[in-house]
Amino acid sequence: MPEGLTAVKVLVTGSAGQLGRDVVAVLERDESIEPFAADALVDDPVAIASSVDAVGPDVVIHCAAMTDVDRCERDPERARAVNATGTQNVARAAAAAGAHLVYVSTDYVFDGRSWRPYTETDEPNPISVYGATKLAGERACPPEATVVRTSWLSGVHGANFVTAILRLADSPGELRIVDDQRGSPTCTADLADALVALARDRRPGCFHVTNAGDASRYELAREVVARSGGDPGRVRPIATAELDPPRPAARPAYSVLDNSTFVAAGYKALPDWRDGLARLLVALERR
Ligand SMILES: NC(=O)c1ccc[n+]([C@@H]2O[C@H](COP(=O)([O-])OP(=O)(O)OC[C@H]3O[C@@H](n4cnc5c(N)ncnc54)[C@H](OP(=O)(O)O)[C@@H]3O)[C@@H](O)[C@H]2O)c1
Repeated sequence: MPEGLTAVKVLVTGSAGQLGRDVVAVLERDESIEPFAADALVDDPVAIASSVDAVGPDVVIHCAAMTDVDRCERDPERARAVNATGTQNVARAAAAAGAHLVYVSTDYVFDGRSWRPYTETDEPNPISVYGATKLAGERACPPEATVVRTSWLSGVHGANFVTAILRLADSPGELRIVDDQRGSPTCTADLADALVALARDRRPGCFHVTNAGDASRYELAREVVARSGGDPGRVRPIATAELDPPRPAARPAYSVLDNSTFVAAGYKALPDWRDGLARLLVALERR
């Protein structure tokens, strides 16, 4: 840190989550940034306000959320408290501290009926409680905030689709995976770099940011099994309607996000999802 300059203070909510941990790791590598973890519950307005106030951050990166889509469907009140009201609490606390807000949102704000990648100007129409409460979170952010919609996250520190497939692949038998949900699998380490770049610039607006390319859940599972030395022939495609028992929450059939606004704003496109997956599998192997 050059003498006379003060570090940019960046506070991260959800810093123990899979994305939050990677965001903190990226912040720690930048000597012009001083990272902080918010330990308060975001649905407790007093606690989150005093946690933000104690740090006095320049930027808040809000990664905390209730992310279990089926749990949100079963407990909509809690989902609203955390994802919608919780984000409002974080936005208010950030505003009181004069901090820029970066909010992480989701492809699940869309209904999945599109035939081409969704742009930031497409009308959201969530089909699940999770999607609706995350969209309410977006609407609780001030216009100058950065809102980043992303999709299908997997990281070293989380229980996610990739780690679930690796676990299933360890037991005998078929892996029956849905082939009628399509999205862009995204590696949290790559997304963390993008979030920190946007945070550093305090860039206002909504941005779709995912790894490049797209896949169905079935195609992703085959790739995970093949790349980890298993037999991809064990993965069988099924329709969502064949899931037994059916999942409580509906998922969009197609939720690929068009990243061109992010790239046009001068940021580097994230690599192909297979590249991110390859690095994630190596990192998981090393643990
Ligand atoms: N996972 C995905 O595929 C995906 C896709 C698109 C967008 N996103 C968004 O990306 C962000 C990060 O997701 P992630 O995958 O890193 O999820 P994650 O691993 O579940 O992390 C979320 C973190 O938020 C914390 N949290 C939950 N309720 C809280 C509360 N009331 N107050 C404070 N912290 C709370 C969790 O703590 P506990 O574990 O203790 O509850 C966890 O540490 C979220 O905003 C999510 O909506 C995720």
